[in-house]
Amino acid sequence: MAVVERREVDRNRVKAIVEREEAAYRARTPRSAELHKRALESMPLGVASSFQTYDPYPIFISEGRGSRMWDADGNEYLDFDMALGVLAAGHSHPQFVEAIRRRAAIGTAFTFPIEEQILVAEELKRRFRADLVRFSNSGTEATMDAIRVARGYTGREKIIKFEGGYHGHHDDVLISIQPPRDMIGDVEAPNSVPTSAGIPRSRIAETIVAPFNQPEIVERILERHRGEIAAIIVEAVQFNIGVVPPEPGFLERLRELATAHGAVLIFDEVKTGVVIAYGGATEYFNVQPDLFCLAKSIGGGTPIGAFGGREEVMRVIEGGAKAPLIEAELSHSSFGGTSRVAHMGTMNGSPLVMAAALAVLTKVLTPDVYPRLQAMGDRLTAGSQEIVDEYGLPGYAINVGPKGIVMFAPRRVTGYRDFIGLDDELWASSFWFLANRGILIPPAPDDQWTLSVQHTDDEIDRYLAVFREWAIEVAG
Ligand SMILES: Cc1ncc(COP(=O)(O)O)c(C=O)c1O
Repeated sequence: MAVVERREVDRNRVKAIVEREEAAYRARTPRSAELHKRALESMPLGVASSFQTYDPYPIFISEGRGSRMWDADGNEYLDFDMALGVLAAGHSHPQFVEAIRRRAAIGTAFTFPIEEQILVAEELKRRFRADLVRFSNSGTEATMDAIRVARGYTGREKIIKFEGGYHGHHDDVLISIQPPRDMIGDVEAPNSVPTSAGIPRSRIAETIVAPFNQPEIVERILERHRGEIAAIIVEAVQFNIGVVPPEPGFLERLRELATAHGAVLIFDEVKTGVVIAYGGATEYFNVQPDLFCLAKSIGGGTPIGAFGGREEVMRVIEGGAKAPLIEAELSHSSFGGTSRVAHMGTMNGSPLVMAAALAVLTKVLTPDVYPRLQAMGDRLTAGSQEIVDEYGLPGYAINVGPKGIVMFAPRRVTGYRDFIGLDDELWASSFWFLANRGILIPPAPDDQWTLSVQHTDDEIDRYLAVFREWAIEVAG
């Protein structure tokens, strides 16, 4: 393979691009600016979720169809963000629209179960080789519930999560997501750094942090906490620090270690599930977790979550676990019937969401679409890599299935500690340059593009043409 010479980028030129493109953005999105100003009066940061904001103000969207979106000023975008990976089915797929329309007309909430819940559960069981499944309303709820099930099953309290991994915004996992460099501590025993104020110290102490892709260190951490770890929760591909795949053998080793230490292995498949393969990361890497968590793309754009897995573990929701109940658990177990581990939620398995999920899973994200999603992802990555090489830019393109990114890092990132060195300014210059030319990628360097079944090769070529224009200007 030819060795590609990487050049130092001219920092002044990159800064000038950011400034010029931000100014162009302000000029063509006055309505978004106005809406954001108004939103600041009624919502902290002017948004519904803190992920939705960025400087100088976020684009307000009015419509999405297929692979395209329109903002409040009427500007059109080719959408490569796809709602942070929610839309492998694309915006408002006709099958999705029909299912929602039908269900909206015949009742969207009951206190009673519906047949569609069984059908969606059966479909997820098939895809993830699972015995049992339960529904929730978000990825956050799914990981929260799975962790509680693991604790109920093992009778233990601590969990291991990986530095740089994101599993939603509940207390147990809002830890060491992107901790500042001066707080991370020794790689052998990374500090548990809370990502938010308001998390009690007692909770933080229960979450042990490990470095991704370093199985020997995970093993030593497990040894130090022998008999204490209820669960190891992991994103099989770290998709919240760009795209960081597992090194060969890493997931297999986690599987062995979890089994050896009696801990429940949880794959957080919120981003991978039904996107990188029909059966998500479980199928893609052929490693079977005890539990998996799902959300995002399984609902096609409705608020959904699900978790499931091995019968023996999931049955603790019915009260069949081996570990003895401690007194505190006993007093709680009377709430919610005879359950040992409580799992409930008014909107779990909502008819509207189940209709959407059933349509998306059985009519849109069918087994035959995955080779094409993979091929499109490979095409965008190969094209981006060619451009990065041609202009000697410091970075590399990488994808897993239809999710990918250009990582502006000098070396391949294998875990959070390498990710800290990413060139944010270079990324920002590409984000604004692309957005102003109708190509929308996620508005943060830690998130990746997601392609949907409604994207086309021509749209990928359009992306690459604009990305090339940007590279030419950066290279000077
Ligand atoms: C891997 C992973 N897990 C969990 C979540 C939380 O999901 P939600 O935002 O639906 O609560 C996310 C959200 O981005 C995620 O990427």
